[in-house]
Amino acid sequence: MKRLRTAVLISGRGSNLQSLIRACADPKFPAEIVLVISNVENAGGLDHARAANIATKTISHKSFASREEFDAALDTALRDANVEFICLAGFMRILSDWFARRWEGRIVNIHPSLLPAFKGLNVHQQALDAGVRVAGCTVHYVVPELDSGPIIAQASVPVLHGDTADTLAARILTEEHKLYPLALKMIAEGKVELRDGTAVFA
Ligand code: GRF
Repeated sequence: MKRLRTAVLISGRGSNLQSLIRACADPKFPAEIVLVISNVENAGGLDHARAANIATKTISHKSFASREEFDAALDTALRDANVEFICLAGFMRILSDWFARRWEGRIVNIHPSLLPAFKGLNVHQQALDAGVRVAGCTVHYVVPELDSGPIIAQASVPVLHGDTADTLAARILTEEHKLYPLALKMIAEGKVELRDGTAVFA
């Protein structure tokens, strides 16, 4: 079986990376992780990758004069590893329009809100401040505009009385860990694709 050659881009602890690694450990899973790139040295997620014998690379954005140069270095590393698909998992850099267009339809992100509600940062607090009774997470295609690409999959959780941003984040994270592998499976099996700016399901 040909497996989709996937890279995961991280900046931190990498619990979503870990859930993808677990899913890909099954030889029948239709995707494999061939490279993990972090823009932050010593990001915790790099240890998960190393423990699974996955190639890692740190490309610090601080070593580059501009966003475009950083993105070009990312692109080179991805192409050198023959990467076919990218999962952003807690990757805390905004990608240039150039990069998003170059990888259009071949790059997704997981975001801890039910998009299109609550984009950007501090999303759990945004949800609490808005008083919503249901929150959740979204896997979506990446487009130049932040947190705005076509939606592939979502999972919801209740917002409970007395929730803090941390308790809500933990409840959502549990769902993220199920949703991201599910979405990657759908993509790798060709059950969803980006066509003319829309997620089309087979
Ligand atoms: C997750 O909540 C993800 O949705 C968001 O950043 C967080 C990353 O967590 N984009 P982790 O590094 O995967 O544990």
